[in-house]
Amino acid sequence: MCGIIGAVGTRDVVPILLDGLRGLEYRGYDSAGLAVIDSTQRPVRERTRGKVTSLVEKLNARPLCGTTGIAHTRWATHGAPSERNAHPHVCGAKVAIAHNGIIENYETLRRELLATGAMLESETDSEVIAHLIAREIDADRSLLDSVAQACHRLEGAFAIEVASPKVPDALIVVRVGSPLVVGIGDGEAFVASALDALLDLTDQFVVLEEGDIAEVRCDGLRIFSLASPKREIKREVLKVEGKRHLKDKGEFDTFMHKEIHEQPEAAVRALESRISGTRVLQPVFGVAAERVLSRVRSVHIVAAGSSYHCGLIAKYWIEDVAGLPCQVEVASEFRYRKAVVLPGSLFVAISQSGETADTLAALRISRRLGFVASLAICNVPTSTLVRESNMTYLMQAGPEFSVASTKAISCSLVGLLLLTLLLGRSRGHSPDAEAEVVEALHSLDDDIREALALEPQIETLAAQLIHRNHALFLGRGPQYPVALEAALKLKEISYIHAEGYPAGELKHGPLALIDESMPVIVIAPKDDLIEKLASNVREVEARGGELIVFAGQDTSFAARSDMHVLPMPRVHELLAPIIYNVPLQLLAYHVARCKGTDIDQPRNLAKAVTVE
Ligand code: F6R
Repeated sequence: MCGIIGAVGTRDVVPILLDGLRGLEYRGYDSAGLAVIDSTQRPVRERTRGKVTSLVEKLNARPLCGTTGIAHTRWATHGAPSERNAHPHVCGAKVAIAHNGIIENYETLRRELLATGAMLESETDSEVIAHLIAREIDADRSLLDSVAQACHRLEGAFAIEVASPKVPDALIVVRVGSPLVVGIGDGEAFVASALDALLDLTDQFVVLEEGDIAEVRCDGLRIFSLASPKREIKREVLKVEGKRHLKDKGEFDTFMHKEIHEQPEAAVRALESRISGTRVLQPVFGVAAERVLSRVRSVHIVAAGSSYHCGLIAKYWIEDVAGLPCQVEVASEFRYRKAVVLPGSLFVAISQSGETADTLAALRISRRLGFVASLAICNVPTSTLVRESNMTYLMQAGPEFSVASTKAISCSLVGLLLLTLLLGRSRGHSPDAEAEVVEALHSLDDDIREALALEPQIETLAAQLIHRNHALFLGRGPQYPVALEAALKLKEISYIHAEGYPAGELKHGPLALIDESMPVIVIAPKDDLIEKLASNVREVEARGGELIVFAGQDTSFAARSDMHVLPMPRVHELLAPIIYNVPLQLLAYHVARCKGTDIDQPRNLAKAVTVE
């Protein structure tokens, strides 16, 4: 999942490309590069290992200039993060390409190209694209035809942008399985993996659809179908106003820390115009929701990573509160198995970015499986997931720049809880039960603030964890997925190995790991399972494990030398997973900060996983 940006105009596009890359860096940040068609009509490029700042330094030392150009920020899939493997890839002076996605048959294509004398320089799957296009150019095809012919040989997912001296004032772009949007400016045009990257340049956009190939010029855009490149297609021009979200950390040292602290306001936005007094407002999920939800007899949730953990929490809610069967599945598994869909089943896809390749594939597959409808719980209104789903709940978390998801989790849980309440209502549940939860939701922001206030204690504890190699998180009921999420967060940003376990499962194996070097973090709100959890804690205590307990009011945990107790606010039982998740994010953050890792851009990861 890389980020691509392109521009064609009458001014030097290098500053535009660099600025666009900064806005797309969340998609991958192990290497970066750009290419322009220079005044001698040749593609010239600069590439670097590392982040966009390194590219800027190189370009300061050796400036490039051109009015047509493409650029790329990479998340390595095939080949190490190195300058040699960085995009754009070229084939002599004929063509330069940047690619986001994966070419699955690249080894076959590579062998074929090498056998016919091509000089391939990188280990990437992408470089074959440049050579395939060049071969078609040599056969005297137009640039558009050459790209189309080359694409017919490709298997996999790709968004491609192509610059060539053959048509020096145009870019050819293709979308198959990876997002691509065109921005139409005044006498100039732009291309990017995400609309947000172009918001400072224009307010007119065309979102390319699957199988589109387009010729982008400063004075116009022509779109064709890759299947029949002679057939021109008209696509709607969207007007989207706004500024690119400022990447401003404010008073914080990292985006993750800022985004953790934005959660009270984010929760208010996630609820805004969606609850009133004691009720959830019916159109939360769109006008069709009432009709659709009354037909729902079961729910099937599909997502990845932290979004998957939100789905696991929702399963407890949907089964306990709405009384409907609910399955939750990792998207990369769902897409490759024959799922049995219960009659009247609602498909729910959860994704912060709305561009996660596996989740999108799952949504597309779901259309053939007889679901009642699809619902996207998503943070990005212009994302593919939102555009392709029947119903949407927009998280309203605001842009999340840190790779580790934080505020989007709270907001998607809010959406899933509202869904639970509406499903309960459509099954005739008492309005009193709904009113009790809605009343609690009115003070969700204050509850989160109270949990955030534990930060000084968490910071002190974090300093003691940095030399540990492992950590165990325990919870029961809906707190078990909270434990999974806390473990993911810790390993993701601090590189400490961590596992989340249902506390009752300890004695079936993991108890063997417990000794004084194993920190065990326990999520312990006051609920029906608290006594069971307390016995599990005693099992750890008896084996000398070091305990950190996030304890609800009126629970019996007392601080001792081997047990740190963090007193959590009194919260409604259903809201506990949302609130308890917050200090666990802070714990991961402070451990990583003490260790000095790159918190916002952890190694080997990227924000939007647009490849499978
Ligand atoms: C972890 C994290 C990832 C994402 C996952 C899905 O902190 O952020 O696990 O949750 O890659 O991403 P979305 O929600 O964009 O589909």
